[in-house]
Amino acid sequence: MKILFASSEVFPFAKTGGLADVAGALPLAFKELGHDVRVVMPKYKSIEKHSESIHDTGKQISVPIGQETQTGRILEGRLFESAPIYFLENNSYYQRDYLYGEHYQEYPDNAARYIYFCRGILEACKAMDFKPDIIHCNDWQTGLIPVYLKTLYNEDLFFKDTGTVFTIHNLAYQGNFWHLDIPLAGLPWDVFHIDGVEFYGKFSFLKGGLIYSDVLTTVSKSYKDEICTPEHGFGMEGVLRSREKDLFGILNGVDYTKWNPANNPWIKKNYGLENLIGKQDCRDDLIQELGLKVDKKTPIICFVSRLCYQKGFELLKEGMQYIMKQGFAFVGVGTGQSEYQQYFHDLPKLFPGKCATFVGYKEVMAHKTLAGSDMLLLPSQYEPCGLTQLYALKYGAVPIVRSVGGLRDTIQNFSMNSKKGTGFKFRGFAIPHLHRSIKRAVDVFKDQPVWKQLIINGMKKDYGWGRSAEEYLKLYKSVLDRKKSSNNGQTFGLN
Ligand code: ADP
Ligand code: GLC
Repeated sequence: MKILFASSEVFPFAKTGGLADVAGALPLAFKELGHDVRVVMPKYKSIEKHSESIHDTGKQISVPIGQETQTGRILEGRLFESAPIYFLENNSYYQRDYLYGEHYQEYPDNAARYIYFCRGILEACKAMDFKPDIIHCNDWQTGLIPVYLKTLYNEDLFFKDTGTVFTIHNLAYQGNFWHLDIPLAGLPWDVFHIDGVEFYGKFSFLKGGLIYSDVLTTVSKSYKDEICTPEHGFGMEGVLRSREKDLFGILNGVDYTKWNPANNPWIKKNYGLENLIGKQDCRDDLIQELGLKVDKKTPIICFVSRLCYQKGFELLKEGMQYIMKQGFAFVGVGTGQSEYQQYFHDLPKLFPGKCATFVGYKEVMAHKTLAGSDMLLLPSQYEPCGLTQLYALKYGAVPIVRSVGGLRDTIQNFSMNSKKGTGFKFRGFAIPHLHRSIKRAVDVFKDQPVWKQLIINGMKKDYGWGRSAEEYLKLYKSVLDRKKSSNNGQTFGLN
């Protein structure tokens, strides 16, 4: 099958969160299964670091943006020396320090930047003479691809057999712009209505993806159900319910070639189920690096995340005194909302020697922190899938999570009786619930042989991409079958 995987961020080229991890790993799983998969993303400034392995294809694209035409080269590299990855260049749009905005402000031309990306992808397919069977779109930045295919490119024979899958990684980010961006996108006004891209008077790229793509997926089964409710639907629940039969939950996976303490090059000592002792070295290393004053009996709990409402930061803040009273040491790694960053910045002063925080985004810090910690706290308000708790399982950092979305689906509550389970879950988004889980965790930690069993339960879990990739492929096939039968009933120029 020919698959084009479109994402606004792809690890290791550009990353702000889990989407990049998915886009940097899932295509490799398709490739391993023998498919012709290619990835496409904007050529951001951060890609310069990889310029040695990237070449100019000699092809370029032209995209009308309102009255003007923007052009740019198509560059090509390899995703981990495997699948081809195309970078759409346009220096006026993408040669910036950040991906989506800076100083807590979105870039004001984000509509134009991702119009260029979406339409540019279709133009790039033609320029490269790559006719995808499936274009797999991810989040709002790619939401206009299915819209274009069903409008401006509807009669284009090049895409006659191309189907679309749109994956929702996070419904809160919608790419809603003012209505006058409709002509900027070159779209006809008849897409701007309640069953099209209109969303409370705005032009919604996300809604475009939700309405116009052949099928929809999201990244866990629980989140799939949750987004059809007002509580988690961010206003899109009606649209999603109307497409319920085309909406599927496929859990994310983990790339264990990168997220694995047995081979990660950044941690002090590699370890795994057979040689757990290395985890102790990683713990000692983290303690030393961060200048913590703790002994073996002190459990280290960490929080590695974007600092935002979604991740339950308010609950973390409220619960911090209690956590520290239970005798924990706390390590925080994150970037995000300014007031949360300030809180993180000031926190170590309140608990000298027992708390260290790193405000910034550094891949190596995430690995070192998970390897050196005993527990990971993730009290999310909502969580489409969550990858960090899956990484934590493999790194032997026991997850304490709120039972929501993908956290609910991937972590099993530990039972003292059966000694089964991989972590601690609580349901209510409220302090007493958080406290109870923290207390249970600290009690089990005191019984080190049982704690070891709990760690082993988690490390044994296999959330590799293989199973999810198979599920996506099945879905792709069903889209193509559907396409074929509807094409048979349709008169295309050459039929
Ligand atoms: P989300 O996509 O909502 O941020 P995920 O759990 O799916 O959540 O993925 C988060 C990814 O981003 C993980 O790879 C995690 O290690 C990484 N990450 C988040 N914050 C930081 C940070 N400050 N430093 C390094 N890595 C981070
Ligand atoms: C989003 C979600 C996260 C998910 C990630 C990758 O950013 O917040 O839960 O794991 O996308 O799908």
